Amino acid sequence: MILNEPAAFTSLLKVSSHDYHTFSHSVDVLLYTAGLAQKVGLKPDQAREFAVGAVLHDVGKSQIPTTIINKQGRLSDEEFEQMKAHPDLGRTILGQHDTRTISQAVAYHHERFDGTGYPYGLKGDEIPLVAQMVTIADVFAALTTKRSYKAAMSSFEALGIMKNQMSGHFNPELFKSFVQLMGSQP
Ligand SMILES: [Fe+2]
Repeated sequence: MILNEPAAFTSLLKVSSHDYHTFSHSVDVLLYTAGLAQKVGLKPDQAREFAVGAVLHDVGKSQIPTTIINKQGRLSDEEFEQMKAHPDLGRTILGQHDTRTISQAVAYHHERFDGTGYPYGLKGDEIPLVAQMVTIADVFAALTTKRSYKAAMSSFEALGIMKNQMSGHFNPELFKSFVQLMGSQP
């Protein structure tokens, strides 16, 4: 699918050569977003576009120093300000080559349903559907992946944390569907 979209392919290469962790994370996010899109009954064409948006969501990180991306522990205020630029940097990298859905995934995947996200502080359905899905997939993928400084959580633990400590971040209906999707896996 990505091979049908030359701009998407080039953008993804930028990510994989810059920081391999971000690349493999992006593939996880594609997988979970595609699963969720299917679960909520999106048409195949739309689900495919959501999946491309998902795999490219962090393309802007190719402009952020890897020392910040892979820093263990908390980022300083200044580092966090730099990090917060990656959705907009990503949108700039995509330029006019990409569809609206793809740039929405890139620009809005750190917005939160309760309005506490960045960079725009959008709330509820001001956040495009694709970005609402990518946010769930992004957090779940991060929690369930092992890094040099942390162990991977099980799916069950990750969903528990997302439900109990982060519930305001996500569209509740979509989150419910995601729990059903992951809960039905053998
Ligand atoms: Fe991101």
